[in-house]
Amino acid sequence: MFTVNMAGLQKILVVLCLVTRAISQDMPYEELLAQIQACPRECNCPQNFPRAVYCDNKGLKSIPKIPPYTWYLYLQNNLIETMPLDALQNATQLRWINLNRNKITSDKVGEGVLGGMKHLAHLYMDDNLLSTVPSPLPVSLEHLRLSRNRISKIPAGVFVGLDKLNLLDLQGNKLMDDGVTEVSLKGLTSLVQINLAKNQLSSMPLGLPPTTTQLFLDGNNIEKIPADYFKGLPKMAFLRLNHNKLGSAGIPKDIFNISSMLDLQLSHNQLTEVPVIPSGLEHLYLDHNKIANVNGSSVCPVSVDSLDDSTNDGVPRLRYLRLDGNEISPPIPRDVVLCFRLLRSIVI
Ligand SMILES: *[C@@H]1O[C@H](CO)[C@@H](O)[C@H](O)[C@H]1NC(C)=O
Ligand SMILES: *[C@@H]1O[C@H](CO)[C@@H](O)[C@H](O)[C@H]1NC(C)=O
Ligand SMILES: *[C@@H]1O[C@H](CO)[C@@H](O)[C@H](O)[C@H]1NC(C)=O
Repeated sequence: MFTVNMAGLQKILVVLCLVTRAISQDMPYEELLAQIQACPRECNCPQNFPRAVYCDNKGLKSIPKIPPYTWYLYLQNNLIETMPLDALQNATQLRWINLNRNKITSDKVGEGVLGGMKHLAHLYMDDNLLSTVPSPLPVSLEHLRLSRNRISKIPAGVFVGLDKLNLLDLQGNKLMDDGVTEVSLKGLTSLVQINLAKNQLSSMPLGLPPTTTQLFLDGNNIEKIPADYFKGLPKMAFLRLNHNKLGSAGIPKDIFNISSMLDLQLSHNQLTEVPVIPSGLEHLYLDHNKIANVNGSSVCPVSVDSLDDSTNDGVPRLRYLRLDGNEISPPIPRDVVLCFRLLRSIVI
């Protein structure tokens, strides 16, 4: 008995044509075959990039059965409500999952569905309906994006063991002060960037790891910064506190005088004075505050008289300065110009 199944034959021919192209991706032939045969009808599995499966923008209500050798999975812009254990059961090789803009709620994330992905490095779940950080998370995770959900708490210990995670994006959630405590971020020994913008924080978040370089807190209700806040954060370089409620009384005099600081953003607050800045600062945003005057000699991080005209050694590094939307009347004080010689742009 011998019957030729045309559809099957065609599939084999297609696969044969692909083999040479796939070799560059280091995918064994059997795996390639299994991968292509398991491509879900709803998805697009590009032949020259067999580790990627594209199921985005398809109106999907659930996650299709994902082929076993998938590394990159695109499921964004669908109507997915649940992450059951079985849909991703065989996809143990996943490196990257994009689930942005779906309708996943925390109670519909299967227990252990993520924890079992031993290689997962990037998990994107922006614009869903999560009320808490999913757990357990895989310890291989490097980037976790959970913007614009409804997260009001970070369960204690949820990040323990995640020593590769360097980016955590929680902007646009419902975190209040009790949602980010000393223990919340415990275990994130490689954290570089944390985004907590557009939450409901009224104080500076506690328990940031000493590796933190970028802290984004725009659009909260922060009124003051404790004097020793940056003591344990020797790498802090990019600090954004735009659109908060900081007045000069809430800012200890030299709180931002941190030698690692490069970019400081304090727009749309209630500051009445220019804070002390470090000599290495490159960008300073102070627009839309209540600053009435700029005293050049006190703003300059070094003594203007000590600067040598012939070299830029020891010259403050400031290149961009915004002071518009304050109560300052021109001209720019002469001392400011003499001090910040590397300024390329000043908005006043
Ligand atoms: C997982 O693989 C098994 C064995 O190949 C298969 O029977 C099952 O349908 C697969 N499940 C999913 C969700 O892909
Ligand atoms: C800022 O810090 C530098 C270096 O730590 C220090 O020399 C300087 O006096 C400080 N400036 C002020 C105004 O505290
Ligand atoms: C500017 O600051 C310096 C040093 O703090 C001070 O001596 C001086 O009086 C101030 N100038 C004005 C016009 O307030």
